[in-house]
Amino acid sequence: MKALIINSFGGPEVLKQEELAIPRPGRGEVLVRVHAAGINPVDYKIRNGSMKIVLGKKFPKVLGLDIAGVVEQSSKKSRFQPGDKVFAMLPFKGGGYAEFVSVKAENLCFIPEGTTMKEAAATPLAALTALQAFRKGGEIGEGDKVLVNGASGGVGSFAVQIAKAMGAEVTAVCSTRNIEFVESLGADKVIDYTNENFTRLKTRFHIVFDAVAKSSFRRCRRILKRGGDYVTTVPNKGLLWHKALNFTRKKKANFIMVKPSGDDLEIIADLMARGLVKPYVQQSFLLSEGPAAHEMIETEKVRGKIVFHLV
Ligand SMILES: NC(=O)c1ccc[n+]([C@@H]2O[C@H](COP(=O)([O-])OP(=O)(O)OC[C@H]3O[C@@H](n4cnc5c(N)ncnc54)[C@H](OP(=O)(O)O)[C@@H]3O)[C@@H](O)[C@H]2O)c1
Repeated sequence: MKALIINSFGGPEVLKQEELAIPRPGRGEVLVRVHAAGINPVDYKIRNGSMKIVLGKKFPKVLGLDIAGVVEQSSKKSRFQPGDKVFAMLPFKGGGYAEFVSVKAENLCFIPEGTTMKEAAATPLAALTALQAFRKGGEIGEGDKVLVNGASGGVGSFAVQIAKAMGAEVTAVCSTRNIEFVESLGADKVIDYTNENFTRLKTRFHIVFDAVAKSSFRRCRRILKRGGDYVTTVPNKGLLWHKALNFTRKKKANFIMVKPSGDDLEIIADLMARGLVKPYVQQSFLLSEGPAAHEMIETEKVRGKIVFHLV
């Protein structure tokens, strides 16, 4: 099968398309023929070696944590059978940038009607991050005020839609060029960070979700309600320090570390089926265009998501 692999850590140029053996599904796993694979910032962080302490230095590595495709092979007892259209977030060892991947059945979910393969591949990691991040704030209730920083990106664009679907009043932060896009996601209020500092707003929020980790708990604390939560996607030392003090404080500092979950993906699939969440795919690439796709994700300027299409 064709796969996009790395044999060393480095820039986008280390991504090479090669032939690999089709993986053999283990116990409880399903073999999926990949039609589209999502591209996430974590992929370039794995590629450039930033995550080698956690993920090791074994090569070749097939990157890619998001897939959408069709079940090729499964056990007779599995609820996923050949021909079913499925999507999943894979564990951090990856394997998604390939024509076939073996996926634990517990991480899979059926693709909702009306969703394309590219849209499905764009969804799992980013949408699961948003859903699981909101749980860090103790779940969102009707009328809760939620602020999403980085609302035009992969995680942020799902966060706005999921928070709205949960009944929140959403304030979304993005740059001028993305205002219309973020409004189209359903945000109640949009702040252009090039003109206004959202950490000086008068509103007090139940949750400030810093989807792009460009602010800090220290700066966001004043716009949190008593009992409110700041949640970031990239923890640093300062965040960990504040988190350690949460038990002494009314306003809490948290971070999210997304986990694959077929059950959580089913919640998202249900929102997609009801038209409450719609993935936005800015551009799709062939596997052979791997370096160009990674150059683009590294700009931190993608609107919504980018994906590979294999079929
Ligand atoms: N911990 C976890 O489990 C987890 C999970 C997923 C992602 N992450 C991390 O979270 C971060 C975001 O991921 P992503 O997939 O959403 O990234 P992304 O899609 O690449 O984000 C791109 C978006 O960020 C916006 N942006 C750039 N600078 C900004 C700023 N200063 N303020 C507000 N928005 C800004 C850009 O919009 P403008 O052009 O309008 O600025 C662009 O639309 C990455 O670092 C990723 O690795 C962590």
